[in-house]
Amino acid sequence: MAATPQSRILGTGHYLPDVIRSNFDLEKMVDTTDAWIVERTGIRERRIAPEGMVTSDMATAAAKRALEAAELQASDLDMILVGTVTPDMPMPATAVYVQQKLGAGHCPAMDLSAACAGFIFGLSIADQFVKTGAMKNVLVVGVELLSRVVNWEDRGTCVLFGDGAGAVILGPAGGATARGRARGVLSTRIHTDGALARSLMIPGGGSETPTNADVVEKRLHKVHMRGQDIFKVAVKNLYSASKDALEETGVSASEVDWVCPHQANLRIIDNVVSRLGVPEEKVLLNIEKVGNTSSASIPILLDDNVRSGKIKAGDHVLMCALGAGVSWGGALVTI
Ligand code: COA
Repeated sequence: MAATPQSRILGTGHYLPDVIRSNFDLEKMVDTTDAWIVERTGIRERRIAPEGMVTSDMATAAAKRALEAAELQASDLDMILVGTVTPDMPMPATAVYVQQKLGAGHCPAMDLSAACAGFIFGLSIADQFVKTGAMKNVLVVGVELLSRVVNWEDRGTCVLFGDGAGAVILGPAGGATARGRARGVLSTRIHTDGALARSLMIPGGGSETPTNADVVEKRLHKVHMRGQDIFKVAVKNLYSASKDALEETGVSASEVDWVCPHQANLRIIDNVVSRLGVPEEKVLLNIEKVGNTSSASIPILLDDNVRSGKIKAGDHVLMCALGAGVSWGGALVTI
């Protein structure tokens, strides 16, 4: 029997830029092929934010849609959490700009740096504040403008990532049930293993290696990744995070209606889901169309499927994500 949830997703929203960069476009930029990318990752195209658009623009667009879905105003927000590793600028937080662009009140607004796990980290933190009654409506955004920090000469990374934003409003669970199930966040668990810190990073531009001409020349201000290290730990930790979420809540794999996993690599997702024993028709995917949008991937996928009516009120949705840090987590939510 699942525990009674104290917080609930009141509304979801997402934003994707219109510009599509396909694998065939990439064939003209680096030594790669559509066949290689599809076979190794499942990605066929990704979205690229146009010049002049910044991270907070995408976050604000997604947030507005989530507020609308929740039937709330920006002034109803008690806190804004933005998961991103591609902020508008190092200081102040991107969440500050989101607050300003939404016209929200003076609620606390901060960024979370947990890379691809940023949304699950944000959801978990928001859940704690709502649970205690300290906050009522918390906006959680996952947003990335990775095309600006990817090295477009490195075929090992540039084929993977895309731009986009997803958002949810978390509020008190109170009373709402569907299909006999209490709607809300049943479990969130988050973890970090700093031993793998240097497997995926942007090494330049911080206090260790401040930006200078040499840093730019060596592309140290761009994404660097040891792909196989991340692949192996993702398969292991996404499985354990998902299993923990089920064990903690007493919800069995067969009771899960949808798995909404971070979209990093189709092979990673297939491996995790088959070990969990969830049939593949219950796995939500959009990696083919959007690539890896890091912290934005889960809320984009969630919103898409809520709006299409595939995910229905009362459905158990299992989420899991892992990214740079390495940081990872799992969540089980009844929509
Ligand atoms: N096109 C063609 N060849 C490529 C390529 C590309 N885009 N990228 C790498 N290669 C080459 C490599 O240079 C290597 O060539 P070599 O054998 O001549 O040295 C070969 O393909 C195999 O590379 P490898 O890195 O072993 O491939 P892989 O099967 O591990 O796949 C990733 C690479 C990046 C797709 C995979 O490791 C991965 O998805 N890792 C997880 C990454 C991730 O999810 N990161 C985000 C965290 S959320």
